[in-house]
Amino acid sequence: MALWAMGDFHLAFSVDKPMEVFDPVWKNHEKKIQKYVRKSVKDTDTIVITGDHSWGRNLEECELDLKFIEDLPGKKILLRGNHDMFWDAKKTAKLNDAFDGKMYFLQNNYYTYEDYALVGTKGYCYEGKDSIEHFMKIRERELERLQISFDKAKGDGYSKFIMFLHYPPTSIGEQESPFTQIAEEYGVEQVIYSHCHGQKRYDDSFKGEVNGIMYRLVSADYLRFKPQRIL
Ligand SMILES: [Fe+2]
Ligand SMILES: [Fe+2]
Repeated sequence: MALWAMGDFHLAFSVDKPMEVFDPVWKNHEKKIQKYVRKSVKDTDTIVITGDHSWGRNLEECELDLKFIEDLPGKKILLRGNHDMFWDAKKTAKLNDAFDGKMYFLQNNYYTYEDYALVGTKGYCYEGKDSIEHFMKIRERELERLQISFDKAKGDGYSKFIMFLHYPPTSIGEQESPFTQIAEEYGVEQVIYSHCHGQKRYDDSFKGEVNGIMYRLVSADYLRFKPQRIL
């Protein structure tokens, strides 16, 4: 048994959104993802896929992309990314019903791996794209959702945590944030995030150990499409 993570598959089997226009590393990226995930992840393993799954704008346009994920080996736990238009956070239970036994959607709930609780939410950091007021509002909502995930796990007796975010835990230049504070408060062992694409963005936030917590960036291009072993 092993726990793996990788995020930002940015699949587009039904819509015209070639990723290699951003960086040649993305050429045939879905083939690389399939090859490396199949090579590493066993059916008895768990993989957390940290958001930006599909470019489709609704469930219908995402169908083939989600089928691609469903067909990968292991237990698939999905986190919401900023591009996941098919996933209304408030209707996560509906997705979990629809894909029951095939894929698991992490939002306002938690999953487990051995004696660890896997908690998470999309998160948010400031990228200069919105007003400070809007940023604070979205971040607050995400913190509430993360808190629900922790509360449910803790309420069920879990005390060991791995925390998953789509966005980096800190905005550029920050040494801490409400997300790193909550991770420290709960004694989280690892914080896993993705979202950052391209050489210029890989150092946006923490990587490695900070205040006893291991931070890992797992965006697919950063990992060259090879899943990262977490446990
Ligand atoms: Fe992304
Ligand atoms: Fe993203």
